[in-house]
Amino acid sequence: MNGFRIQKRFASGMVKSIEWKDDRVLILDQSKLPLEVDYIECTDHLTVAETIKELRIRGAPAIGIAAAMAVALASQDIQASTFDEFMQKLRPVMDTMVATRPTAVNIRWAMERMERLLLENREEPVGRLKELLVDEAKAILEEDIEVNKAIGLWGAQFIKDGDTVLTHCNAGALATGGYGTATAPILVAREQGKDVRVIADETRPVLQGARLTAWELKMAGVPVTVITDNSAGALMRKGEIDLCIVGTDRTVRNGDVANKIGTYTVAVLAKENGIPFYVAAPTSSIDLSIPSGDLIPIEERPAEEVTHIRGQQITPDGVDVINMAFDVTPARYVTAIITEKGAFRPRDIRKLSVRGINLSDIMIKM
Ligand code: MRU
Repeated sequence: MNGFRIQKRFASGMVKSIEWKDDRVLILDQSKLPLEVDYIECTDHLTVAETIKELRIRGAPAIGIAAAMAVALASQDIQASTFDEFMQKLRPVMDTMVATRPTAVNIRWAMERMERLLLENREEPVGRLKELLVDEAKAILEEDIEVNKAIGLWGAQFIKDGDTVLTHCNAGALATGGYGTATAPILVAREQGKDVRVIADETRPVLQGARLTAWELKMAGVPVTVITDNSAGALMRKGEIDLCIVGTDRTVRNGDVANKIGTYTVAVLAKENGIPFYVAAPTSSIDLSIPSGDLIPIEERPAEEVTHIRGQQITPDGVDVINMAFDVTPARYVTAIITEKGAFRPRDIRKLSVRGINLSDIMIKM
């Protein structure tokens, strides 16, 4: 891997999964958490692409930001005298980034945003276009944090004092520019003085819940308990979970939601036990071009993620493995989709793009 790593002590405060610094992209290596806090310094887009593929940075919004920064990085080295030549050299970079992970729509969303910016400024000299790309990538990161805070404000209304929230995978600060999506309502509810605790599914096979959600919530002072994925149903039956909040990699027009494998199981269990199931979805994760969740591409990952834990083999040699990274939860299991524009019934999510609609007419309020 190109680029070199720098070791840094982690200062308490808001976790930064990614940062643009001195014409470099700094990425917190999540594959090493919580045991080691290590940053990867990326000086070229291929290093960023590798970090995404290897889940060193992961989570839909975070990989969208990383892809945007990768394009900004790559653009600095492009020699071109016309707009068309510049675009011709930048397009393969965008294609490389989109190909890193197929399920989260945020990478495509970020690439489309970068391309739109260039088209709007096609009369500018190439040097100026390069500056604009850097500014846009930084803006995507900053806006993501604001979006998450808004999700927090809309989502906190569904959390009561004393509630226990179950979450799956990591849709926290590490998965975003900061603050998180599924964690934002929890953080806001606590800022509002509500006593809220979290149960984090460990989330086999990559253990984003046990390693990442537990780590960042502990740092934020939120009481968190880790459970094996198989325990969620039993705890729901015992009345120990009041609501579920998860993130999403892609939410489509009929309100179906792709998220980390196992999310569907949690949603079905929640419905069976009469527990509300919320999805925190920044609009950068919403893809209205796809009519149903059945059409969302589901990433399949290497068998070694299942056959090995931290390099230690746990299955017989040569055993067959299925390792789908995501599943689709049908809209009927989703109580509400919480976006930065408000919380909506899944069937109303398609209306977000309808011009002239008054969103407060279709918003869910407690
Ligand atoms: O494979 P990962 O770790 O990238 O999967 C992440 C998730 O499933 C998250 O819940 C999702 O990306 C939303 S992050 C705000």
